[in-house]
Amino acid sequence: MRPYIVAGNWKMHMDSESGTALARSIHEGLAADPPSDGVSVVLCPPFPVLSSVQAAIAGSGIGLGAQNMHNEDHGAFTGEVAPGMLRAVGCTFVILGHSERRQHFHEDDAFINRKLRAALTHGLTPIVCVGETLEQREAGITEEVVGGQVRGVLAGITAQEMKGVVLAYEPIWAIGTGRTATPEQAQEVHADIRGVLASLFDRGLADRIVIQYGGSVKADNAAELFACPDVDGGLIGGASLKAQDFLAIIRAASTLAG
Ligand code: 13P
Repeated sequence: MRPYIVAGNWKMHMDSESGTALARSIHEGLAADPPSDGVSVVLCPPFPVLSSVQAAIAGSGIGLGAQNMHNEDHGAFTGEVAPGMLRAVGCTFVILGHSERRQHFHEDDAFINRKLRAALTHGLTPIVCVGETLEQREAGITEEVVGGQVRGVLAGITAQEMKGVVLAYEPIWAIGTGRTATPEQAQEVHADIRGVLASLFDRGLADRIVIQYGGSVKADNAAELFACPDVDGGLIGGASLKAQDFLAIIRAASTLAG
């Protein structure tokens, strides 16, 4: 049985005060109504808020993640953050290759692959994002595009390393648009991704890898998405900024995990 991982990607929202309050509310909500064993919860605030969120979730079992990092350990990379720096503030997860990073900051699969290797070297669990644009979906090339991204970001990764990787399928047209993929659309791509993993590694390993769905996941559609056989939780943007909404999404995973 694969676990569900429900991660909140706060993007460029929240300051120390509001982020701490949000993390505290989530901590309290989970303490009052603990999720099933098969559900992991992760919060990914902006860099300057990592330490205060870490303090607010200490002892809760909630994981801390960053939204990006550089692959180098140190050096003249103005504005960048190294994997070791994330570990030092308590991160155990890092989102890599989010479509907003690909789109606005020109990250490509090769760069994301270097970051992925660095994350694994430093003991961080990478949540690696893939997903097609609306244009690509309408052109009927979703499988090709997403499959190409999966192969690109995982180039040279061994089966042993792969066990520590989480993937997130985030169709770009569903991010922040309120237009979520239908469960059928999500399931189809997740199954395709698992097929690519089976061809790169083997079916047994492919069946162990957590593949999250992201893109307008809300309290009222989480259950139907998470019920899909190949959807193992979610990477949540907007709805992770409200404790009650995020807690309801975690409950949806928890109910399914039993
Ligand atoms: P929304 O949930 O706001 O659509 O964002 C999804 C996302 O990009 C998570 O990484």
